[in-house]
Amino acid sequence: MSLIRHAGFILIMAAASAAFGTTPSSSRPIISADSLSLIPLPRHITVYKATWSVPTQVKIKADRKSQRRSANFLAAFLRHRGIGAHLVASGPAQISFLRDKNDPVLGREGYRLDVRADGAVLKASAGPGYFYALQTFEELFNSAHRLDHAIHEVNIADRPRYRWRGIMLDCSRHFFPPAVVKRFIRLAAHYKLNIFHWHLTDDQGWRIAIPQYPKLTSVGAWRNGTEVDGNPRDISHRRYGGFYTDAQIRQIVAYAARRYVTVVPEIDIPGHCTAALAAYPWLAAGKGPFQVRETWGISNVPLSPSRRTFHFLDTVFGDLTQIFPGRFIHLGGDEVSAAAMKVWAHDPIAERIMQKRHWTPERLHDYFPTKLARFLAAKGRRAVVWNDVPAKNLPQNTVIECWNSSGIVAHDAKLGHDVIVANEGRLYFNFSQGDPRYEPHALNSIITLRDVYDYNPSSLLPRSLRPRLLGAEACLWSERIATARHLFYQALPREMALAELCWTPLKEQNYAGFLRRTGGQYAWLMRHHYNFCIPLPHGEFIPKTGRAAAKRVPARNLIIYQTSSAKGMIRLQDTIPGVVIRYTLNGTVPTEASPQYRRPISISVKSDAPVVVRCIAVLKSGRCSAPARLEVKRTPQ
Ligand code: ACM
Repeated sequence: MSLIRHAGFILIMAAASAAFGTTPSSSRPIISADSLSLIPLPRHITVYKATWSVPTQVKIKADRKSQRRSANFLAAFLRHRGIGAHLVASGPAQISFLRDKNDPVLGREGYRLDVRADGAVLKASAGPGYFYALQTFEELFNSAHRLDHAIHEVNIADRPRYRWRGIMLDCSRHFFPPAVVKRFIRLAAHYKLNIFHWHLTDDQGWRIAIPQYPKLTSVGAWRNGTEVDGNPRDISHRRYGGFYTDAQIRQIVAYAARRYVTVVPEIDIPGHCTAALAAYPWLAAGKGPFQVRETWGISNVPLSPSRRTFHFLDTVFGDLTQIFPGRFIHLGGDEVSAAAMKVWAHDPIAERIMQKRHWTPERLHDYFPTKLARFLAAKGRRAVVWNDVPAKNLPQNTVIECWNSSGIVAHDAKLGHDVIVANEGRLYFNFSQGDPRYEPHALNSIITLRDVYDYNPSSLLPRSLRPRLLGAEACLWSERIATARHLFYQALPREMALAELCWTPLKEQNYAGFLRRTGGQYAWLMRHHYNFCIPLPHGEFIPKTGRAAAKRVPARNLIIYQTSSAKGMIRLQDTIPGVVIRYTLNGTVPTEASPQYRRPISISVKSDAPVVVRCIAVLKSGRCSAPARLEVKRTPQ
């Protein structure tokens, strides 16, 4: 018999888990994996009640180059916790990195992690596997007391669900300094994401230095005004902008590579190019002058399909292949508006090409990414484009990133393209995560933590096409996000849900267990100064008799219970350990002076008026969540 954790419960299974599973030793007491704060949840995990007290001095054995990088990270982590750690190449050690090339199911990213009474073994076949073993190992300390360093004994066998576990940052609409970009990458790596998609150009700013075209950054990186804190109604007329030098980009790429994160740069063509047109108006179909846009909005002037423009594009993308070693380069291709198509229809060069080839302006739209995708393919790279570009003319190795049409995922996969899902309805983290009245400026839709968690990109494809799905990606468009503080607020905690949907097999995903496991993550985030949206307290009505039906209204942070019971209890629960919940029963928004929730609240439910409970979670720092509202209504008899 083996005891294996499954979706928050302990199941007793008839046979030990299959080749890739873990086999807990005989009858040692085990506990739920959800009591550890592991995000994403490993594929197979057994957690023992027993702990290993990490001594105050440890040796870490790592005898290969691919192990030493993670071993050095581990030594730094332990030293930071007050544990003396040094690397050895041979001999006895409490923590060992071991190579297992013959474990066929591990792959490059899989690993095994065993923590026993006398030490830990991190086993993998390649660098990424060691790194992910290390991320999990470090997370074991989230549940350990800070002083005694006792971590639970575990057997873990793990590998990711998807190959592409991405997150995108738009650095055009707002510029984020290199240090912020690195923090963004570090967070992604912590959650075992492996793709940083870097949106570097748009109508509001060109952010990468290209030596042959210096005005791209001397002109295109700057605008004459900007929205203050992303507020579209508050425009300051100060000069705003910035760009990344070649050296800064190389540092960022190296920083990401050390964490097994591939940087995928995006230069968005043939629309969304106003910043480039402001620098070099001859790039445009249509007449200038052009100015880098100060506020959000799509440009209606596309690139000209002239020889000079394509020479420019070859230079720019050729440079990208020099700076970015990863296989993928993003060409954008999204949102070429009907007005932009009209500009092409009246542009002499575009007109000539269309007449000669019997093309419509729509075909001209995909001419740009198609030509550039071929250029990149010839250099051994793979282009990525947004799904707005029709797939049928693109080189077969082009990857389609699907953002605004679920139907296109299967369509493009059927044409033989690999696809990535970045559904704007589930994975755009620039949208609010709750009632917009209490959220910072954001675009208006609402995508809750649960919306992200419950999303299953694989469901968009029939089984036969699923091998074409590389994975998923969340996007942080920064039209309304001007600061690092706001950026991480939008990302978190939804990035944890992204991590789990990308990594953990669907059958092991479980929202209640996930919420429990996020608990210990917040202490890590606070220690590393990442801002986050404080989850609302979870409110529940328990009727004294009969049943109660719940309906959620995320746009108002509201849950409404309908019940026939005249009495019942309200139970409030936090997500972050140690927060204080404060509440009111008179409909007003709670403050730090409101009563503290300590035990379930007894209520009577009258038929003529609902009971309204409002509550907030308050961190030790005094920072509060948005107010949640719970209403209990008596169903007419
Ligand atoms: C996009 O959101 N325009 C890809």
